[in-house]
Amino acid sequence: MSCCNAGGTRPEAHDLTKRIDPKDKRLINCKAVDVNQLMPLKYHWAWEFYLNGCANNWLPTEVAMQKDIEIWKSNRLSANERHMLMRNLGFFSTAESLVGNNIVLAIFKHVTNPEARQYLLRQAFEEAVHTHTFHYIVESLGLDEREVFNMYHEINSIHEKDDFEMKLTQDILDPNFSTSTDEGIRKFIKNLVGFYVIMEGIFFYSGFVMILSFKRRNLMPGVCEQFEYIIRDETIHLSFGVELINGIISENPQVWTKEFQNEILEMVNQAVELEIAYAQDCLPVGIIGLNVGMFREYVQYVADRRLTRIGLGTPYGINESPFPWMSAIMDLKKEKNFFESRVTEYQPMNSSSLGLGTKNETEDESDTLFSNTSAQKEIGSSDW
Ligand SMILES: [Fe+2]
Ligand SMILES: [Fe+2]
Repeated sequence: MSCCNAGGTRPEAHDLTKRIDPKDKRLINCKAVDVNQLMPLKYHWAWEFYLNGCANNWLPTEVAMQKDIEIWKSNRLSANERHMLMRNLGFFSTAESLVGNNIVLAIFKHVTNPEARQYLLRQAFEEAVHTHTFHYIVESLGLDEREVFNMYHEINSIHEKDDFEMKLTQDILDPNFSTSTDEGIRKFIKNLVGFYVIMEGIFFYSGFVMILSFKRRNLMPGVCEQFEYIIRDETIHLSFGVELINGIISENPQVWTKEFQNEILEMVNQAVELEIAYAQDCLPVGIIGLNVGMFREYVQYVADRRLTRIGLGTPYGINESPFPWMSAIMDLKKEKNFFESRVTEYQPMNSSSLGLGTKNETEDESDTLFSNTSAQKEIGSSDW
């Protein structure tokens, strides 16, 4: 058995006389390289993601909540605004745990590359920080933690999104699951799309808009700041996921059939409808500057941006966001050096797009599949 086999049995000792060749590294199903030897790198993009993640350390307790507490206790928020905030706290408080658990329990074992695993470990920590954030907000505002943390059972629109994700985790946790077959690789890619592209790339975004709409009106500044830190992290998570998905497809091109691509499109379409239903539930009646029709368009706009990045085009054909102020807020943050670690502008989408890393690591079969897609251009303010 290979020592980087993802199986549960103890790996065989390596031949210590033989040094690893980074060219032999593979994202999944590695048969020739010890997964415990990080260096030399093959996938420089994965290491870059790790460094960028580490440069963004933050903790929710560093953010002052006094103004939020005053506003929450006053009559400055309408009943609809309180409902919208509560629903989003309910969704995010457990969604972050679902993502963290999926990394640790489902993804990590099957990724056989040490630099990608290094980032997964960093991301898992960030998801724990995000879950902590929602506890901190709930505690600061004196909310009922049972109400917030149980919405994932009790509120249908939240439960439906979470159920969609949990089924994908269960598929990988099946004791018979393996990436040794094409069918197994496809199932693994579906999990990655489900979490990186859909959960972190689509399901989070209505909530991001709703929360940042408070910022536009100088309401709940502490909650908004917490979300801005989370968005910064999630931007990197999404980009890493895109690189990982496209890298696996590049190394296993036989799995990326038209039929499978249609399956992914159908999966995203189902998620888009769940997200629109969620927005409807958060906004039973409009709030200044927000209505359900805008969210339908926005969710489709965001889905187009995500699908382009994995080479599946823009099936919804929505070219403009109904919330242009989102990119203005995020761009402003960039100008203030909020994104100081090249979060949206660095290597992956410029030089090594789509999991292919820098030139020296990819002069093999993985260099061709996506190199000319428009996904290379797809990052930055259009992400919001
Ligand atoms: Fe997160
Ligand atoms: Fe995340």
